[in-house]
Amino acid sequence: MDEGKAMAAGEIVDNRPLAPGHYHMTVRLPASFADPSPGQFVMVREAGRMEPLLSRPFSVFDFHRRGEDALLELLYRTVGRGTGLLSGMKPGGALSVLGPLGRGFTMDPGIRRALFVAGGVGVAPLHFLLRRAFASPGKRDPGDAVFYFGAASRDLPASLAGLSGLCDLRIATDDGSRGFHGTVTGLLEGDIDGYDPGGTALFGCGPAPMIRALALLLADRPIPCQVSLEERMACGMGACLGCAVATGTPEGERAYRKVCEEGPVFDIRQILSLLSCEQGGP
Ligand code: FES
Repeated sequence: MDEGKAMAAGEIVDNRPLAPGHYHMTVRLPASFADPSPGQFVMVREAGRMEPLLSRPFSVFDFHRRGEDALLELLYRTVGRGTGLLSGMKPGGALSVLGPLGRGFTMDPGIRRALFVAGGVGVAPLHFLLRRAFASPGKRDPGDAVFYFGAASRDLPASLAGLSGLCDLRIATDDGSRGFHGTVTGLLEGDIDGYDPGGTALFGCGPAPMIRALALLLADRPIPCQVSLEERMACGMGACLGCAVATGTPEGERAYRKVCEEGPVFDIRQILSLLSCEQGGP
């Protein structure tokens, strides 16, 4: 656990469904809450509730300061008891929020084009990165950001329509109800050789099969790529060791690293388990 972080008291300002099984929550936090960087996450639980025991990890979708308040925005999918309970909470509900935690994305100032590849709620940290890098006056030109967004159906992309004002948005859906009919990496595969590897960087977040497909797509293409492995986290605080992934060191050795403490963002080429997936790796 990151001993330098204190649990903050949060109050739900808004908690609404965006698409079937997906919710957007805004949480008011004390002004003392540190600014998160894109790719960092928070651990959240209902204040005072002893069960379920563990807080849940969520990437930051957005973060603002307004007067004395810090406003944290989260995008989440209901996948179990913890997120199910969270989805039923009303404005005014009390939360305990630990964070910001982990190591986020870095965007080299020399990058001329940024490609974002998001699957489902993996859109959350990439939305925050996109806004921080491209959406403010004096920042990068939104025309240099291409955002590939994959979802099960049109519902989630339709609820995040504001993305299209920040970038060149390209959508893939599993059921073909909007955009490309297929996976988001299938959509990217049709475009990827049109990008100059020298000035391009890729940022990804999504379910494990998407990250593996991305690793394969980039295996013989020299485009730098950082991915967030947020799905691998359990306790989120360095206690359970359940998030360890095998990575390669610069010296060519193998080292296990905790996603919650040394990630969740890694260079995709350092994650050995992704590179072995052709041989049926994890
Ligand atoms: Fe438990 Fe990282 S999620 S140690």
